[in-house]
Amino acid sequence: SGGTMHLLWILLTFFAFQSQSNAGNYEFLPANEKFFSDCPDHPPSSRNISGLFDLTNITFSLSAEGLTIGGNTTSAWDIQQEDRVELELNTFFLERGTWQPTVFTLTSKDFCSVMYDERQYWYKYWSKYIKNAEEVKDRCLNVLGTKLFMETYVMNMHLSSRGPIRDGFYKYRLTFRAFDSSGVERPTYICFEFIGDLFKI
Ligand SMILES: *[C@@H]1O[C@H](CO)[C@@H](O)[C@H](O)[C@H]1NC(C)=O
Ligand SMILES: *[C@@H]1O[C@H](CO)[C@@H](O)[C@H](O)[C@H]1NC(C)=O
Ligand SMILES: *[C@@H]1O[C@H](CO)[C@@H](O)[C@H](O)[C@H]1NC(C)=O
Repeated sequence: SGGTMHLLWILLTFFAFQSQSNAGNYEFLPANEKFFSDCPDHPPSSRNISGLFDLTNITFSLSAEGLTIGGNTTSAWDIQQEDRVELELNTFFLERGTWQPTVFTLTSKDFCSVMYDERQYWYKYWSKYIKNAEEVKDRCLNVLGTKLFMETYVMNMHLSSRGPIRDGFYKYRLTFRAFDSSGVERPTYICFEFIGDLFKI
């Protein structure tokens, strides 16, 4: 009946409006060309990004379009191919000069099984651009000396959110840990961060 249609119309309009006002597209712009920084208070047994990759032959340059990345990286983490690698991602928001943890966290118990999974954020912003993926896929991050050849690409980090996100400075912390086949953690783990500005577009 007309009454039902009318109600349906109101509901549809309401939801459309709701999703429009709440949904947002955001862009993340790295704070500097160095891009990566060390985790604060890290124990001597941890390494920063250099413990994961030798970055000698990769370049990062920041321009209006975003961060351009290109070159080669070489695996620098001394673990074994059959090790299980765990990734933990934590997000912090800069509030009155201190980094506050946020609810945006992610854990991957077996990073190697999803390193090239198209649905993952790191695929969109990183592993998609590994030119020799077919050759090095099975080595994940685990085989010291493995070269990853990167296409030159502009990293535009666009995120969409169903709920509102506060504009401002965010930092992402990535922690990689490796476990041998009996579940014992390897002595060296990797922790690094990158900081950027998140704003609505
Ligand atoms: C990482 O650690 C190495 C050696 O401890 C240091 O030389 C380097 O500046 C650090 N930072 C980055 C971003 O590589
Ligand atoms: C960097 O490139 C130079 C020249 O191609 C090469 O000799 C060197 O082995 C590379 N280093 C790494 C860590 O890939
Ligand atoms: C990356 O490695 C390839 C093959 O070794 C080499 O031709 C190329 O120049 C390297 N790129 C950079 C930026 O070092």
